[in-house]
Amino acid sequence: MGDNDNNLYIPEHVGIIMDGNGRWAKKRGLPRSVGHKFGAQNFRKITRYISKRGVKVLTLYAFSTENWKRSSEEVGALMKLFKQYLIDSLTDFRDDDIKVVFIGDRSAFDDKLVELINENEEVSRDRKGMLLNIAMNYGSRAEILMAVKELCREVRDSGLDPEGITEEDIASHLYTGGLPDPDLIIRTGGELRLSNFLLYQSAYSEFYSTETLWPDFHDEDFDKAIEEFNKRSRRFGGV
Ligand code: FPP
Repeated sequence: MGDNDNNLYIPEHVGIIMDGNGRWAKKRGLPRSVGHKFGAQNFRKITRYISKRGVKVLTLYAFSTENWKRSSEEVGALMKLFKQYLIDSLTDFRDDDIKVVFIGDRSAFDDKLVELINENEEVSRDRKGMLLNIAMNYGSRAEILMAVKELCREVRDSGLDPEGITEEDIASHLYTGGLPDPDLIIRTGGELRLSNFLLYQSAYSEFYSTETLWPDFHDEDFDKAIEEFNKRSRRFGGV
């Protein structure tokens, strides 16, 4: 954890489940897609703020492996938004030196979106500021399955001894391999569940839930989460 000017510890890795776009729109009598539009604007703004606060790794849950179950209209609107905001992020995040990486199975996306995903990663590859992981078509169970399959292949093809496989070996085969585990996971929209997000990595993460809906989650709400995080006593199973 880093120190900042208010003597608050800034968590090294923060994960955010950006929930509540649909309810935000419904409250205003607007279609769900409008909630996602405001949610996407907030994604850009808050990412830049969190980077300025000194967080080293930010993992945002943008689209889960289960979100395909939504109506084709809503999925279509989300894909359109992703494209628009990934175009914007090419310049926005350059100014903040943010490196962008996508985690999840990108093979399900159309060519244009895959191109933007690749472009965002390529242009930001050498940036030295915050690492932004955007979780798209991401699900923890699918991620763990991917790691297990890869380890099985190594047992079959490279003489890996199954008895020698460690927890670190599993961690290093996840999308987040090499990164610190999340210190803090924030969920907006008031639900108290992880929804298949970073299940392996969050074994000792602090969980923070707020009723605030994602489009309304602003800089001061993030600061509140950091203050709350600073009150927690993290024992990692010790006493
Ligand atoms: C959850 O709200 C939100 C999503 C499924 C989509 C999250 C995507 C964004 C915020 C867009 C920004 C991301 C990028 C990469 C541009 P919900 O629809 O589940 O809300 P509800 O619980 O109120 O129905």
